[in-house]
Amino acid sequence: MENAVEETQESAVLEAPVDKSNGRQVVLSVRDVTVGFGDKLVLDKLNLDVYRGEILGFVGASGTGKSVLMRTVLGLLSHRSGTIEILGVDYENASEEDRMMVDMRLGVLFQHGALFSALTVKENIQLPMREYLDLPQELMDELAYLKVEMVGLPPDAADKYPSELSGGMIKRAALARALALDPDLVFLDEPTSGLDPIGAADFDALIAKLRDTLGLTVYMVTHDLDSLFSVCDRIAVLGNKKVLVEGTLEDMFANDDPWVQSYFRGKRARSVVIEDKRPAEEVEKT
Ligand SMILES: Nc1ncnc2c1ncn2[C@@H]1O[C@H](COP(=O)(O)OP(=O)(O)O)[C@@H](O)[C@H]1O
Ligand SMILES: [Mg+2]
Repeated sequence: MENAVEETQESAVLEAPVDKSNGRQVVLSVRDVTVGFGDKLVLDKLNLDVYRGEILGFVGASGTGKSVLMRTVLGLLSHRSGTIEILGVDYENASEEDRMMVDMRLGVLFQHGALFSALTVKENIQLPMREYLDLPQELMDELAYLKVEMVGLPPDAADKYPSELSGGMIKRAALARALALDPDLVFLDEPTSGLDPIGAADFDALIAKLRDTLGLTVYMVTHDLDSLFSVCDRIAVLGNKKVLVEGTLEDMFANDDPWVQSYFRGKRARSVVIEDKRPAEEVEKT
């Protein structure tokens, strides 16, 4: 199968380039990207790298442009300058075929992007398959049930409509749709917002498990401190139209930007750290 694709495919290799400074594969590279609406600049020469296999947490005050950046990276909003490379492909200047190759490697869970309410969970999951693949219905059904299981939903959820599901189940079903084509990179915009703390923690655990088992790369916009502390390998903070800081949690604590300080060292953050550390240590012992 893969050989056949390679033979007919002339251009896009979809090989994430290696960052020589650390030997890691760069799945997404954003360089000097500027985005604005009218005379209002939202992002100004922003830079960001996302490495294969990591869970990157993307944070920033409300309205700073987190969703705008995600939509720009996905090619849904245009940028005024700069380049965006996904899996080594300069998306904006790529051919139609190459763009499609890239699109097939990405999964997305939009902030308010729920499922199509007139379709069952199974039909929702099969939408990307119908768009990009030409598979017999039987195989698509099998695949849909597999995805449903993968995200921890019971098999009968596949034939339900979104209105018959709880908020947490809808998020899982939307994640199953994002995973429909076995992507390399998934974009999640505030995936745990609206979930109760237990539902959110379960969702985070699922993300970590999928990363470990599927080798997924995860780009997660979030303002959920629990998520940042429990599953994110690296954090990038958006502020002043750029990535202000990027690094580990320790880097965030050590940073002296006032917003970063108040966010990561504020009262709320301290309570999360204290709450989270104990169970984590207990879990490790067992
Ligand atoms: N389509 C649009 N047209 C004009 N302004 C927009 C559009 N989309 C977003 N914005 C503005 O861009 C800024 C960043 O928005 P957004 O990315 O949604 O913020 P957040 O970081 O909360 O996700 C906001 O000021 C928003 O009003
Ligand atoms: Mg947003």
